[in-house]
Amino acid sequence: MSLILDDGERRLANELLGRFLDDHERGLAERPILPEVDRGALQALLDDGFPAEGVGVEGFFRDLDERILPNSTAVSHPRFLAYVLGPPNGIGAYAEAVAATLNQNCNFWQLSPAASVVERTVLTWLAGLFGFDTERCGGILTGGGSIATLNALTVALHDRRPDFRAAGLQAGGAPLIVYTSAEAHRCVDKAAAILGLGLDNVRRIPTDEHQRMRTDLLAEAIRADREAGRDPFCVVATSGTVTTGAVDPIAEIADLAEAEKLWLHVDGAYGALFVLAEQTAHLFGAVSRADSVALDPHKLLFAPLEAGCLIVRDAEKLRRAYAYSSSYLTVQEDPLMRDYMDYGPQLSRNFKALKVWAALRTFGTDAFRSALSGMLDLAAHLARRVDDEPSLRLMAPATLTAVCVEVPGLSPDGHAALLARLAAEGTALLGPAVVDGRDGIRACVANHRTTRADIDAVVERLVSLIAELTSVRV
Ligand SMILES: Cc1ncc(COP(=O)(O)O)c(C=O)c1O
Repeated sequence: MSLILDDGERRLANELLGRFLDDHERGLAERPILPEVDRGALQALLDDGFPAEGVGVEGFFRDLDERILPNSTAVSHPRFLAYVLGPPNGIGAYAEAVAATLNQNCNFWQLSPAASVVERTVLTWLAGLFGFDTERCGGILTGGGSIATLNALTVALHDRRPDFRAAGLQAGGAPLIVYTSAEAHRCVDKAAAILGLGLDNVRRIPTDEHQRMRTDLLAEAIRADREAGRDPFCVVATSGTVTTGAVDPIAEIADLAEAEKLWLHVDGAYGALFVLAEQTAHLFGAVSRADSVALDPHKLLFAPLEAGCLIVRDAEKLRRAYAYSSSYLTVQEDPLMRDYMDYGPQLSRNFKALKVWAALRTFGTDAFRSALSGMLDLAAHLARRVDDEPSLRLMAPATLTAVCVEVPGLSPDGHAALLARLAAEGTALLGPAVVDGRDGIRACVANHRTTRADIDAVVERLVSLIAELTSVRV
């Protein structure tokens, strides 16, 4: 069998792909959010031996219909309200197909000239949203927010320890300390552990009553570390915490970081792109004072996974951390020719920027502004409905689109049972939440397909399930 599809096979593949995409779109609201999966049967279904002979184009599409689709989670369902995972925008699948066809290697210019400029353009657009100096700043698209934060901490480390490339952490010196809030995402811990900083050197600063990092306690922690001979070097603030969507006081933290000569990284993976929405733009006014910021176009720009983004205020610092010369690569020095292998850890890289560029070109920024505004309105509506229901209580203000809800008097297992019941009967997928040590459930409107009717249906079902549970308890 040749690895090239002939004309007939290509026609068939085009038709079957078109049908797959159409059926998927039309059937979305009817599909179960979570597939009913028998783990053993699924394993047997998909692991039926290394295929010596192929099943052909038709067989592959049959596999999709019979084996893959029925066992996939419907993340685009309008009542998929768990985690921070949006449905891909409409052009995403097409852009991915084109990226796979062109197969540009976004490592250096010669292998990806248009892709390099598209990536730079996308980064400039995103940096411009926050008012970064786009002449000076740089960045790179990544696999996600976690990788962007890992890269940011790497740059911070190189900046603080100029001999880090040669000597690593083996050169000794006072222990380097990273500060972040108690509500920060685990990717900060992961980055610190991967880089050899050690979790013992990550300070989790307590938050205020709205889950925002307490700047006074941050200052105290820095002082205590200095007095103990340690070396505070980086603070990671969060613009939209994963649980409640709290936005740390970035301006205050930036003042302190400046005074203390700390690298300021902002984890904006969940929230910072809400800068596009009128209601919340003001929350992100100080983000451009950060040395680096992590964003996730695969969340709020609804790019298909994966598309994360790191922006660094001074592109040269990013380059210093990652640029290596190699005799086996054909590169030329030219400021207009950006070699992305010099701005991150990967050599071979796919054309992630295409799907982000395609979405912004196809729909225009205003379409995203209005999608995000709509999601914020829905979250506010949900928060109001929760406030109006005697059997429900809001656990934190809904700053962005994460709404955490508890049922007063219900045990942690009871909350888990509610989530399981909503999922099993197909009403909605919500996630768990722990706020101030209390268990609850969390609906995150990260989905541009969700409507007010979906939100109302979830609230009404929750209330009736709680009434059932309560009557059982009585
Ligand atoms: C605040 C925050 N940071 C980081 C991440 C991790 O992003 P990713 O899954 O793209 O690595 C998330 C994911 O939800 C998040 O909410």
